[in-house]
Amino acid sequence: MAAVEEEEMGSSCSWRTRGAAELLLRGLLLCALAAGSGWCNSVERKIYIPLNRTATCVRLMNATHQIGCQSSMNGDTGVIHVVEKQEDVQWVLSEGPHPPYIVLLDGELFTRDMMDQLKESSRVSGVAVAIAKPSPANGFSPGSKCPNDGFGVYSSTYGSKFAHCKNMEWNPLGNGLFYEDFRFPIFLLQDENETQVIKQCYQAYNLPRNGSAPQYPLCAMQLFSHMHAVTSTVTCMRRTSLQSTFSINPEVICDPLSDYNVWSTLKPINISSKLNSTEKVIMVATRIDSHSMFWNVAPGAESAVASFVTHLAAAEALHKAPDLQTLSKNIMFTFFQGESFDYIGSSRMAYDMQKNKFPVRLENIDCFLELGQIALRHSSVLWMHTDPLSQRNLSVQLGEMVAALKNSASGTQVEVQEVGSSQALPPSSFQRFLRLREIPGVVLADHNTSFQNRYYQSIYDTAENIRLEYPSPMSPEEALEYVTKTAESLAEVATVVARALYQLAEGSGNASAIQADPRTVTRMLYGFLVRTNNSWFQSIIRPDLKGILENEPTPYYIAVSKPVNATYFVHYVLANLTGTVTNLTKEQCSNSDGDLYEYAWVQGPQDPNSTTSSRLPFCVRSTVHLTSASSPAFELRDWGSTEYSTWTESRWKELHARIFLVASKQLEIVTLIVGIIILIVSFVATYFINSKADVLFATPRDSGAVAY
Ligand SMILES: *[C@@H]1O[C@H](CO)[C@@H](O)[C@H](O)[C@H]1NC(C)=O
Ligand SMILES: *[C@@H]1O[C@H](CO)[C@@H](O)[C@H](O)[C@H]1NC(C)=O
Ligand SMILES: *[C@@H]1O[C@H](CO)[C@@H](O)[C@H](O)[C@H]1NC(C)=O
Ligand SMILES: *[C@@H]1O[C@H](CO)[C@@H](O)[C@H](O)[C@H]1NC(C)=O
Ligand SMILES: *[C@@H]1O[C@H](CO)[C@@H](O)[C@H](O)[C@H]1NC(C)=O
Ligand SMILES: *[C@@H]1O[C@H](CO)[C@@H](O)[C@H](O)[C@H]1NC(C)=O
Ligand SMILES: *[C@@H]1O[C@H](CO)[C@@H](O)[C@H](O)[C@H]1NC(C)=O
Ligand SMILES: *[C@@H]1O[C@H](CO)[C@@H](O)[C@H](O)[C@H]1NC(C)=O
Ligand SMILES: *[C@@H]1O[C@H](CO)[C@@H](O)[C@H](O)[C@H]1NC(C)=O
Ligand SMILES: *[C@@H]1O[C@H](CO)[C@@H](O)[C@H](O)[C@H]1NC(C)=O
Ligand SMILES: *[C@@H]1O[C@H](CO)[C@@H](O)[C@H](O)[C@H]1NC(C)=O
Repeated sequence: MAAVEEEEMGSSCSWRTRGAAELLLRGLLLCALAAGSGWCNSVERKIYIPLNRTATCVRLMNATHQIGCQSSMNGDTGVIHVVEKQEDVQWVLSEGPHPPYIVLLDGELFTRDMMDQLKESSRVSGVAVAIAKPSPANGFSPGSKCPNDGFGVYSSTYGSKFAHCKNMEWNPLGNGLFYEDFRFPIFLLQDENETQVIKQCYQAYNLPRNGSAPQYPLCAMQLFSHMHAVTSTVTCMRRTSLQSTFSINPEVICDPLSDYNVWSTLKPINISSKLNSTEKVIMVATRIDSHSMFWNVAPGAESAVASFVTHLAAAEALHKAPDLQTLSKNIMFTFFQGESFDYIGSSRMAYDMQKNKFPVRLENIDCFLELGQIALRHSSVLWMHTDPLSQRNLSVQLGEMVAALKNSASGTQVEVQEVGSSQALPPSSFQRFLRLREIPGVVLADHNTSFQNRYYQSIYDTAENIRLEYPSPMSPEEALEYVTKTAESLAEVATVVARALYQLAEGSGNASAIQADPRTVTRMLYGFLVRTNNSWFQSIIRPDLKGILENEPTPYYIAVSKPVNATYFVHYVLANLTGTVTNLTKEQCSNSDGDLYEYAWVQGPQDPNSTTSSRLPFCVRSTVHLTSASSPAFELRDWGSTEYSTWTESRWKELHARIFLVASKQLEIVTLIVGIIILIVSFVATYFINSKADVLFATPRDSGAVAY
């Protein structure tokens, strides 16, 4: 395809003659008028090539700021300039004679310095970033150096010396680009072949020839990402709420980021009532979500997926333990959504617990174990982070947790170590619970000090980042079952976690019999990070959801439509791993949801005896539930909240990009004038023809009734 494209661009007058007859007519007439001048070429060539594989930086807002990017209402256009080396940008900033420019930036050069230069210049009307392959060697993280600053537990009143990451900069590579407000659009080019098409167009038309500036026509790009909302969540939500009061058809311009948390318990609990205050629950938590600078691009392999996969594997291992009913404490598996945006999911659950709107109350929480980023361990060491302030009051319980983890790790490949007690907790959901009550808790992570992850919350935090590798010629079904090194190592962690939980829940049996299954882990890693459309995911989801399966990984951005696909996947994987197959019929299944259990009718495996692709569906009973992950700030209509997340996403009409050849301004004016003349001439002609129609189109008189 690329070759065809090249030929079309290279040869001067043979561009595709797509489209409107009017355009053709205009072009022909212009050719006739300006015969020999060569103008006709450029008019004919003014044909658009859409870019099909792009992602867009959009506008988000919090209580006080807007971040992200936008184009003007009708899209921003600029002459393309390719920047492959630092020096190339001078052409855009000062030398080039045809501003404004749209910069095609190589992934390696997408840095804070470069973007600051482009932002300063009025000669830039947009940026297209080509994804770097391999990932940038120096790391890349558009997030902040201190993630979720101000929304954790440390503040001027609690551990002020730890507030604002004074004690430890967790994400030193964070360049903060995500939190900048750009006045121009930024698009990500995800497909190298499309990037090549653009570069070929650039080379054919825009390269300076023999030292002198290139001549029209030039290769240009147009980016559409106009955003409806401006300023801040406060402004936008107030406007939206005013509208919905006074208008029948309110025009919504922004939506709160929100979704659902997924949770389940080892022993079923009645979700229509509240637990007794004597009942103890151990909370296990991870986050589901991540983000990058681009809308709905959030691979989150190390920052979310590896951790929740380990969590799921631990849940499966525990459910297989024989004497579960003897455990004196219950265990709750919790998967939070929206944690990357100032802890949306955990702040909502903690709030619900505090307000008695959740079956589990804060007092029921016995202890809290969170899996932070865990896939990039150095010599297999896993670090236990604790809150230095609650150390004094909770030393006994914390000691128990630490001992249980150390104990469970003995005899495995994993070594767990304590972090120095003068260090704050890393950014974690646990902090939102610690804000409300002193709870003993441990956050497990692969880093002692700052993150190991060099691509935190970026487009490069992919399967590659956690070294998920498959021997090359392998069919999807083979890859699904192939146990990778990463899967083995995460299964070890899951084993340690499951055993520790069993001990903490006072299980009387032999904890060392509990073992996470590397085959389950590898299937999950493949499903969540490589291809959701695999035979296992196909068999465990509801038939009406089969449309969300794709031959690529799913994004882990929280978004505003709910639930997002990632939430569904976590839900149904958890139900498969911890639920039981029942012999209920489809009707019984859909009517069975009760206080203790949730029932799901799933597609089931392919029927091996059938020649058609029919499936053998069945009903799964589990304790998996969804609960709102929408910030309490919106519940309370406190849109300027500094306690709860206030992130909203602007609405937009269209997000797309295209390239084409532009003619000079003079030519465009000539074209316009000619067009107007033609229009007038054709009006006159039409009027004339119309008025003489009976003469011109005289037809024999019809006899009788005629079909219309
Ligand atoms: C909103 O985001 C901006 C940009 O990251 C930040 O400077 C500001 O403190 C945030 N406001 C609140 C209330 O969190
Ligand atoms: C790019 O083009 C090459 C050759 O035409 C093709 O083999 C490759 O699969 C294409 N890559 C993508 C991502 O489409
Ligand atoms: C995008 O898709 C359209 C229609 O399939 C195709 O004509 C166009 O060439 C594609 N764009 C690029 C840059 O390949
Ligand atoms: C560049 O200059 C050389 C020598 O002056 C000339 O032969 C050549 O055609 C020029 N190339 C272009 C693209 O103008
Ligand atoms: C759950 O609690 C509700 C309210 O207390 C009660 O009506 C219901 O019977 C309970 N369900 C079960 C299965 O115990
Ligand atoms: C420890 O407990 C005491 C008494 O209950 C309380 O006053 C103090 O605030 C607690 N310490 C911390 C760090 O919360
Ligand atoms: C979920 O998957 C479907 C099908 O692939 C896709 O059209 C939809 O946009 C996805 N939803 C989100 C929120 O990504
Ligand atoms: C998913 O995979 C099946 C084969 O296992 C295939 O028939 C189907 O078309 C795929 N779906 C998508 C969306 O690619
Ligand atoms: C989970 O999935 C496996 C493989 O598809 C299947 O054999 C098993 O019965 C499922 N279990 C439940 C509880 O759905
Ligand atoms: C299947 O359902 C019947 C009644 O519908 C019940 O008696 C039987 O115990 C069930 N079998 C299993 C294996 O659950
Ligand atoms: C497939 O056919 C075999 C042999 O006829 C039979 O024993 C088995 O139960 C069938 N399996 C299903 C799922 O129908």
